[in-house]
Amino acid sequence: MATPVKHFLQFRDFSSRELEHLFARTRVIKDRFKRYQPYHPLADRTLAMIFEKSSTRTRLSFEAGMHQLGGSAIYLNTRDTQLGRGEPVEDAAEVISRMVDVVMIRTFEQDIIERFASHSRVPVINGLTNEYHPCQILADIYTFIEQRGPIQGKTVAWVGDSNNMCNTWLQAAEVLDFNVHVSTPPGYEVEPERAGLFATTHYEEFTDPMDACRDADLVTTDVWTSMGFEAENAERMTAFADWQVDAEMMAVARDGALFMHCLPAHRGEEVTADVIDGRNSVVWDEAENRLHTQKALLEYLLRGQVDD
Ligand code: CP
Ligand code: NVA
Repeated sequence: MATPVKHFLQFRDFSSRELEHLFARTRVIKDRFKRYQPYHPLADRTLAMIFEKSSTRTRLSFEAGMHQLGGSAIYLNTRDTQLGRGEPVEDAAEVISRMVDVVMIRTFEQDIIERFASHSRVPVINGLTNEYHPCQILADIYTFIEQRGPIQGKTVAWVGDSNNMCNTWLQAAEVLDFNVHVSTPPGYEVEPERAGLFATTHYEEFTDPMDACRDADLVTTDVWTSMGFEAENAERMTAFADWQVDAEMMAVARDGALFMHCLPAHRGEEVTADVIDGRNSVVWDEAENRLHTQKALLEYLLRGQVDD
């Protein structure tokens, strides 16, 4: 029987051992890149990137990353492909996966990417769905490890919407054994099933965001209105007004606690300018690490556990 294709559709698709390997490879790949040492393990390999939502970082990091690894990337979007004219996702997967070596998709419901993957001959990577954003959390955790060492046993405070980022942090906490303190406005609480959680052991919910931030090693947030939820924007602006990460919240976190945001950010909404532009913020390193962690991910999916 053929070996099943390895995909990265949600964070828990990878074990803690696989993640350790990815983080170790990220360090090597990043170091080579910084020293301008060519590294082309994916020569002649092609990545197809399908975008059904906007992107700056995800497109750039995958496209540049694939190029730097010696391969190439093709950008597809709903507007210019037959996907936008109703071609079934299963048919698109059959065809696209016969022509390229790996596919990245940014889309709406998780079900779309699951259906694509089940008809794909090649690895499929989740570049963001309504439910999850696993590539971003790879970069965030790598950034934490780079700055502070192992994340196991540490506390991450999540302030704001229980969205794709929050769900992925919660899954990551189960896989890598850390804790998440979540504070959302009423009506926007975590839905454990939607988050794909096995247990409630690695997170705690707090009514007051200050309590969630108390003694946290990392404070993080995201936009109040994610892509695809624009119709709820006015309602959300009111509901989330008290869930803005500010200097007071950072002050109750541990000394030297980091601040992260996946970006794009809205200063004056989910975070104040003094926090995101302040000394504890690592948002630029976090964004850069999308490139390095995803290069390790592409290498792993296409070449397995290499250590050269
Ligand atoms: N953080 C992130 O995924 O950014 P983009 O939407 O710009 O890709
Ligand atoms: N939660 C945000 C993340 C953007 C990178 C969204 O889905 O729009």
